[in-house]
Amino acid sequence: MSFVTVRDVWKSYDGRPILERVNVDVEEGEFISIVGASGCGKSTFLRLLLADELPSRGAIRIEQGHRAMEPNQERGVVFQRYSVFPHMTVRDNIVAAESFGTRSGWFFGKRLRGARERADETLARIGLSHVADNYPATLSGGMQQRLAIGQALTAQPRILLLDEPFGALDPGTRLAMHDFLTELRARTKMTVFMVTHDLTEGFKLGDRVLVFDKPRWDPHDPGAYGATITYDFDARDEGIPFQTIKEKTHVPVSA
Ligand SMILES: Nc1ncnc2c1ncn2[C@@H]1O[C@H](COP(=O)(O)OP(=O)(O)OP(=O)(O)O)[C@@H](O)[C@H]1O
Ligand SMILES: [Mg+2]
Repeated sequence: MSFVTVRDVWKSYDGRPILERVNVDVEEGEFISIVGASGCGKSTFLRLLLADELPSRGAIRIEQGHRAMEPNQERGVVFQRYSVFPHMTVRDNIVAAESFGTRSGWFFGKRLRGARERADETLARIGLSHVADNYPATLSGGMQQRLAIGQALTAQPRILLLDEPFGALDPGTRLAMHDFLTELRARTKMTVFMVTHDLTEGFKLGDRVLVFDKPRWDPHDPGAYGATITYDFDARDEGIPFQTIKEKTHVPVSA
């Protein structure tokens, strides 16, 4: 059995289906890119993986355990709109991510100094050294996004959920962040789910690229059906992805 198992997951809001019959198995350490039209339910799927919300039907299991019922420290997130602690300096935002990751609360003394040194290394990698003592409100949107990414990577969760993490960044910064993420992944066994609107980025970083789309479509009632995973590309293959299309076979399993 795989590390993350999604079985026949449906999600509706106010009786309106957003996701339907979502089935996927993910091995530990895999990098899963997720693409699909705006509004098709990608962020919703990440919230279900985080157990921030529960499926209307079906089940998500992590490591053959119980159903994912509530968020915990094993799952780190970078939201589509960045979220950092406004009352902490940029450096301490990174320290906080490390201390929360170890469950020991805020660090003191030698431990705090060590964590601040590591935070400074991270800030250098994400190009924020010069604003280490500033508060997030003084940073641009792209800089806040980089800080949020730095936090999530510092916490080294077993499952990293990234919702369009690089969307607000200029091309050069984006490439630097790709390298940082790739290096970190090589060092840890993190399993990553990343939503992106950039197909090239999805194929570059991902081992697999999942496409969310609506296989059923009623032109008179566009909201009648939900989206599901219509393609599961192997992005490790060399060459043009469209030759490696594997039609997703849905395996409805009652949970
Ligand atoms: N809490 C909620 N209550 C009601 N409807 C919701 C809720 N969250 C999301 N939706 C609806 O679910 C649909 C999917 O939203 P979602 O944010 O998951 O899309 P998305 O694929 O991430 O889009 P984008 O690419 O624009 O970020 C949208 O129609 C949205 O309005
Ligand atoms: Mg979204």
